[in-house]
Amino acid sequence: MSRIAYVNGRYVPHREAAVHIEDRGYQFADGVYEVTAVKDGKLIDEDRHLQRLARSLRELRIERPMSDAALKLVTRELLRRNGVRDGIVYLQVTRGVARRDHAFPVGARPSIVMTAKRTKGPPPKAVEEGVSVITIPDQRWARCDIKSVSLLPNVLGKQRAKEAGAFEAWQVDRAGNVTEGTSTNAWIVTEKGEVVTRKADEAILNGITRLAVLDIIRSEGLAFIERPFSVEEAKSAREAFLTSTTSLVLPVVSIDGTPIGDGKPGPFTRRLREYYQKHMT
Ligand code: PDD
Repeated sequence: MSRIAYVNGRYVPHREAAVHIEDRGYQFADGVYEVTAVKDGKLIDEDRHLQRLARSLRELRIERPMSDAALKLVTRELLRRNGVRDGIVYLQVTRGVARRDHAFPVGARPSIVMTAKRTKGPPPKAVEEGVSVITIPDQRWARCDIKSVSLLPNVLGKQRAKEAGAFEAWQVDRAGNVTEGTSTNAWIVTEKGEVVTRKADEAILNGITRLAVLDIIRSEGLAFIERPFSVEEAKSAREAFLTSTTSLVLPVVSIDGTPIGDGKPGPFTRRLREYYQKHMT
């Protein structure tokens, strides 16, 4: 089956799908995006993704391209046309096409693009054995809570991780605290058994997986706190893990080459991953 993309109101063959060279997403990274997982044909936490999309658009003063009901319809049609039951949907909205000028264009309509593809989730080896992360300085702007397509520091960070043979790079702020990964949220479990993740302020993206995991932790009555943690604290933690739409809950077993705990995925992370998988069904 050949892949189909959705571009500004039309379903088009993926290889022919295109936006104009003067799209502000291309010229200024003036746009936002969402990645939503699909499991057994069900969109995971769709409403939360749509709420975050609406918030990102509002914060950047980009017009909504269509209602949530219309977005849901297009998403389902796209999944149907691509025969995707397990995978991800990518959605991107930009401020639209206009002659290049930094200030907002007058009368431009937002561009919307959606793609769907089959994916298998994180590699079984990563789930079984855990992954390693490196740490890098956080060089991003001051509004990381907006899911903007402006991802250059994230791209450079992920490349550094890849070249170091690591799965992810945890970004570190000027105070020495971990903000988040380049495309994942960062967590630790302390010696006391308390789960720690940074509060969702403007320094991190409030991950939808992060929110679901916090719901699980609360409903299971587990001890947790939202606060910053340093690289040193992470290295001496009992367990560490990361979360995202595509990674779900993945154990982190080494940070900058330092093994976490006994260097194997810990029981808490394993259990949380199982709970999260149940949440997806
Ligand atoms: N990444 N932090 C950053 C910087 C991210 O880009 C992402 C998502 C997350 C996790 O958010 P969520 O749980 O909503 O997926 C945290 C997506 C998947 C991506 O860029 O592909």
